[in-house]
Amino acid sequence: MKLTVVGGGSTYTPELVDGIARLAGTLPVTELVLTDPAAARLELVGGVAARMLARTGHPATVRTTTDLDDAVAGAQAVVIQLRVGGQAARHGDETLPLACGCVGQETTGAGGLAKALRTVPVVLRVAERVAALAPDAWIVDFTNPVGIVTRALLDAGHRAVGLCNVAIGFQRRFAALLDVPPAEVALGHAGLNHLTWVRSVTAGGQEVLPKLLADHAEGIAADVGLPPDLLRRLGVVPSYYLRYFYEHDRVVRDQLDAPSRAQEVAAMEERLLEIYADPALDTKPELLEKRGGAYYSEAAVDLIASLLGDRGDVQVANVRNGGTLPFLPPEAVVEVPARITAAGAVPLPVPPLEPLFAGLVAHVSAYEELALDAALHGGYDRVRTALLAHPLIGQIEQADRLAADLLAAEAARRER
Ligand code: G6P
Ligand code: MN
Repeated sequence: MKLTVVGGGSTYTPELVDGIARLAGTLPVTELVLTDPAAARLELVGGVAARMLARTGHPATVRTTTDLDDAVAGAQAVVIQLRVGGQAARHGDETLPLACGCVGQETTGAGGLAKALRTVPVVLRVAERVAALAPDAWIVDFTNPVGIVTRALLDAGHRAVGLCNVAIGFQRRFAALLDVPPAEVALGHAGLNHLTWVRSVTAGGQEVLPKLLADHAEGIAADVGLPPDLLRRLGVVPSYYLRYFYEHDRVVRDQLDAPSRAQEVAAMEERLLEIYADPALDTKPELLEKRGGAYYSEAAVDLIASLLGDRGDVQVANVRNGGTLPFLPPEAVVEVPARITAAGAVPLPVPPLEPLFAGLVAHVSAYEELALDAALHGGYDRVRTALLAHPLIGQIEQADRLAADLLAAEAARRER
């Protein structure tokens, strides 16, 4: 099968290739095509990818091309993992909101909106080429903000599933704590992308979350950056991204005194590209472990294997809500366990969300709808309306100022 990676010049790509190599028995890739507009980077990353597969005796050929049409034509699956504007644009997303006392984060709050505005049109253009040249292909979207981007893809009629590594990260972590194989651990994970809570954990069908929290609340809380007492009191594990809500002002104070994540990642990327230039390198470098994408290759391989192989297993994915969370519109996109077959990802029923979670989910889902409207149709008014709808902004003065600042930053970027 032909697998295409759009944004394949990312320094992250060897993580994905590592998964393809390790899980060769799960996903029979015969042709891996990496495409990216950044030709020099694409060559470096493509070289590493080819050597990694060769070292493991994987039969797939690796090809790089800057021509999107060439890359996607005839593919069975297309992974979209692009980042419009690179780390420089991300730095803006992470710093501009701070001037208004709002969190600076690439997928949450005003930064997430800025990212959506510049990303949605690009992803839709890619998807149109996929629909034209590989109409049966599945699109797996890792491109953030995944909830909004997936909604855009589904609204436009594409065969797409949104994916994030947060759920698989919890599954692996809990399996290690319980000392059982990850496949035995199932998560009652619900919400929106980057706005989820794990409300149940079963191992071999038995509920184990209360015991996990009794034995390991400190360690789990440290992973998600929240106080252990909160986890014990609520009896759930919020994702790391809930910290931007539950500890918003503290995060803002910390961010004011620290380099942005974009600056840290840019430095890592520079170093990674030096490492990739070594013609002897044929393994995933250790430095990649300092990135946030742990297990993203496994999540991608598992999802594609089930979509193409009609495996019918359950994986957490970003899908249309339908009636899953009854207080949201059916067209909303939610992140929940879904059954994955050749017909796509179908959400499983979710026990009713408690008001504490449902309220925030409803609020952010409404924001996502307005954010998508702004990304598709543009204009200052749509942008400030989306910001007014976001629970972390929500005031006229901040919404108006941030809308102006984000649009000015985007106009300047486009001129460069
Ligand atoms: C997690 C999130 C991804 C995000 C990444 C950022 O993996 O699920 O959606 O892209 O973190 O990691 P980075 O190393 O770029 O900060
Ligand atoms: Mn994610």
